[in-house]
Amino acid sequence: MTIQSYDYLDLALNMAEQIGVLLVTCDHQGNPNVMTIGWLLLGRSYYKRPVAVIAVRPATYTYRLLDMVGEFVIAVPTSDLANTVAYCGTRSGQDVNKFAVTSLTPVLSKHVAPPSIQECSINIECRIYHKQSPPHQLLTPDHRKAPISEQHTIYFAEVLGVSKS
Ligand SMILES: Cc1cc2nc3c(=O)[nH]c(=O)nc-3n(C[C@H](O)[C@H](O)[C@H](O)COP(=O)(O)O)c2cc1C
Repeated sequence: MTIQSYDYLDLALNMAEQIGVLLVTCDHQGNPNVMTIGWLLLGRSYYKRPVAVIAVRPATYTYRLLDMVGEFVIAVPTSDLANTVAYCGTRSGQDVNKFAVTSLTPVLSKHVAPPSIQECSINIECRIYHKQSPPHQLLTPDHRKAPISEQHTIYFAEVLGVSKS
């Protein structure tokens, strides 16, 4: 599928830099989890298909869910959700149901199992096609100072659809 409109790229990358964006995953039963990410690459075209690249630490619950269901949604918040974004970046789905305790509403996605988020202005639906575990040299030399077991795994994913409200 070729996605015609690329205006979501700048909006998503700017928000990732400013407050972070939300990464939505789910388990086999469809129970969703959401965490904040700041590390995001969005490519305009890879053989005419947009690509998203994310970096996730193995200590997160999200890491387990990405292994379980190889799909995710990048939900781009508006700046009024800054407190919620901060919360989702400091609490783990292993301990708390973040959808239940925040104002975020999960809604069905069109192309992937994890839900989109109603309150987010843009939802980017992605399917993983490659996972690169550490050791690798895909992040900066600084990242490689951490023990290998704590370094980010990198996920390359096709963008299957983008919805904008
Ligand atoms: C602004 C911000 C950006 C973050 N970016 C990332 C990231 O790119 N990758 C990552 O693994 N964790 C990142 N985190 C940390 C996770 O969001 C945090 O560990 C979260 O509690 C994991 O949730 P989970 O256990 O429910 O998956 C970030 C946190 C904040 C506040």
